[in-house]
Amino acid sequence: MAQKLFLCLTFTLFLLGPLSPFIYKYPLVYGQLDYNFYAQSCPYLLNIVRYNVLSAIRNDTRMAASLLRLHFHDCIVNGCDASVLLDDTKDLTGEKNAPPNRNSLRGFEVIDNIKAVVERFCPSTVSCADILTLATRDAVSLVGGTYWPVPLGRRDSTTASLTAVLQQIPSPFEPLQNITAKFTSKGLDLKDVVVLSGGHTLGFAQCFAFKGRLFNFQGSGKPDPALDSSLLSNLRSLCPDGDAPNSNVAPFDTSPTMFDNAYYTNLRSNAGLLESDQALMGDPLAAAMVYSYSMNPRLFSFDFAASMSKLGNIGVLTGKNGEIRKKCGSVN
Ligand code: HEM
Ligand SMILES: *[C@@H]1O[C@H](CO)[C@@H](O)[C@H](O)[C@H]1NC(C)=O
Ligand SMILES: *[C@@H]1O[C@H](CO)[C@@H](O)[C@H](O)[C@H]1NC(C)=O
Repeated sequence: MAQKLFLCLTFTLFLLGPLSPFIYKYPLVYGQLDYNFYAQSCPYLLNIVRYNVLSAIRNDTRMAASLLRLHFHDCIVNGCDASVLLDDTKDLTGEKNAPPNRNSLRGFEVIDNIKAVVERFCPSTVSCADILTLATRDAVSLVGGTYWPVPLGRRDSTTASLTAVLQQIPSPFEPLQNITAKFTSKGLDLKDVVVLSGGHTLGFAQCFAFKGRLFNFQGSGKPDPALDSSLLSNLRSLCPDGDAPNSNVAPFDTSPTMFDNAYYTNLRSNAGLLESDQALMGDPLAAAMVYSYSMNPRLFSFDFAASMSKLGNIGVLTGKNGEIRKKCGSVN
């Protein structure tokens, strides 16, 4: 199914040729990546990934969200090179246990399982970075997002960097300016910040991520004024005052397993979960985009696909760089 759709899309792009503005977003070859990279060496790859992502989401409806975030945390730190998947060893300090990731990132076992199946069909051929990118595309499109073609040929890192995680992953406690700076340093822009923040149409956040807004916001003794009062009371019962932040989770929107534009409608009524979500309304340009996505879910879905395509191509290793790991959790 996925492969058919892919072929059909590729064919359509071919027919439309340079007449289509689309072609500039999805050229047949992207940098050194290639849509047909595994066509001979692993012809069933797309089917294997899509089928296993579907099973994983059927088993755990949160998994689409978790895979999306895993891919983001891979790509935003030194590029989409599967560095986030590496386990700690005595020779290598991985990224999994860095503060923004530890007890927070999910879905490693889904990628490890897909990799094991792919290794049986095509040993030492397909990178973990490509599998994670494809799995994320499939997850988003299976829960209601727009499909986008993924060029392939990424290779896996032989290193990871905990310090880079600390420096490069945006924090929910920093201002929009700082978050935007982190995105622009990767070749993404303010529009990508607004669009990709819409990834928070899926999934959940733990108390620690928003508790600072509930009781004593910035030392004011009051809650964040930019937080809707009925959402506030729900969140307060989930994460009571005085208690240490617990691992209870709140959904980012009322439909956390469905890709829709509720994230943006919520922002318009002060119902963004994280301070960094609601902060989009504090910037005139970003707020204008929030308005348009709240009015036009198809525009959001289409722009999301385009920004994800950019995200998936950040800092990729190709050619002879990096390696094809045999297992995603360790270098060869
Ligand atoms: C713009 C800056 C961003 C900040 C500050 C941020 C922060 C966070 C935080 C604090 C959580 C909750 C983690 C936890 O409670 O364990 C979270 C979850 C999530 N984030 Fe982001 N995020 C950002 C951008 C993104 C982007 C660009 C994407 C994807 C395109 C994304 C996708 C997700 C998803 C899907 C979840 C839910 C994961 C799950 O339920 O397993 N986030 N984010
Ligand atoms: C199904 O999901 C649960 C978590 O919700 C997980 O513990 C379990 O390992 C998953 N099973 C399979 C077969 O993926
Ligand atoms: C935002 O970035 C500035 C400049 O890099 C830095 O000084 C400041 O500490 C950052 N703010 C937060 C909350 O991280």
